[in-house]
Amino acid sequence: MRRALVAGGSGFVGSHLCDRLIDENYEVVILDSLVTGRKKNITHLIEKGVQFIEGNIADDLSYLKGPFDEIYNMASPASPVDFKTMPIYILETSGQGHKNLLELGKRTGAKVLFASSSEVYGDAEKHPQKEDYFGNVNCAGERGCYDEAKRFGEALSMAYKREHGVDVRIVRIFNTYGPRMRPDDGRVIPNFFSQVIQGKSLTIYGDGKQTRSLCYVTDLVDGIFKLMQSNCSEPVNIGNPFETTILDIADSVQRVCGSKNELIFQELPENDPKLRKPDISKASSLLSWKPQYSLKDGLEKTYEYFRAELTQ
Ligand SMILES: NC(=O)c1ccc[n+]([C@@H]2O[C@H](COP(=O)([O-])OP(=O)(O)OC[C@H]3O[C@@H](n4cnc5c(N)ncnc54)[C@H](O)[C@@H]3O)[C@@H](O)[C@H]2O)c1
Repeated sequence: MRRALVAGGSGFVGSHLCDRLIDENYEVVILDSLVTGRKKNITHLIEKGVQFIEGNIADDLSYLKGPFDEIYNMASPASPVDFKTMPIYILETSGQGHKNLLELGKRTGAKVLFASSSEVYGDAEKHPQKEDYFGNVNCAGERGCYDEAKRFGEALSMAYKREHGVDVRIVRIFNTYGPRMRPDDGRVIPNFFSQVIQGKSLTIYGDGKQTRSLCYVTDLVDGIFKLMQSNCSEPVNIGNPFETTILDIADSVQRVCGSKNELIFQELPENDPKLRKPDISKASSLLSWKPQYSLKDGLEKTYEYFRAELTQ
């Protein structure tokens, strides 16, 4: 039986990844500081015998003895709300924290996957975004703590591969949504569902014509799992290339919920990306991966979750 460590495993994406690893018959250990994650995301896994360790990956990890075959680093606050409140924590997590996990990989011989982000492309001047585009990031802006943390995590992964031969994987995740997102986490899908379910107006930042490409969480997890099983150490985009405007997303959410709400327009946050769409030709040729969920199907599943979460 293969043994995996999932850092950030009680978060939104991490908990779905743990579900997949259990389905694939792995022994799973979760390490999470619970800074943005929730234990209730993994109660069902703990009941199945998954080991949960509460801890920060930026702290000394010498207590983790292994053996591990695979280390998935999903740990990082990821919402723009967090960029304002804990920028240093975010930088430390992908800096010292990711270094600690790479050291653990070096010590135990495990492969180490880093959850990077489409944010490495910043406010992209090329569209759609391909892995060979170097990006347009304002390192000193408010989003710089997250964007640069992800860029540093990627650079550190490649440094460990080149200097120590650690077998690394880098996944550039594009906007993902689904059950287990925190209703108050500040990202577009939780915002819209929370506002519709609570009968409030929907907040649109800017004119709402900026685009996003939304991937359903189990599609993302499938891509992450396949990437870990591949032999590709270069960054790979995983996301759904179906591109839609924020206004269209607001419309789709209201249609799924069967409601019509007022829209309120607010100023666009600094350096908010205007266009976002992954080029997934690398994932498709290398991993034979493509997303399965349409936006409508994914939103319907997500609605069931938010309705239960917000009306219980
Ligand atoms: N969801 C997306 O759309 C998206 C897009 C791009 C990249 N990502 C990346 O995917 C990963 C998971 O994101 P998510 O959406 O599930 O966010 P999340 O906040 O739900 O999950 C992150 C988890 O990591 C834990 N964590 C954070 N810092 C930690 C630390 N220093 N030590 C231990 N645990 C720590 C949190 O408690 C949480 O459980 C993150 O690395 C994020 O940057 C997500």
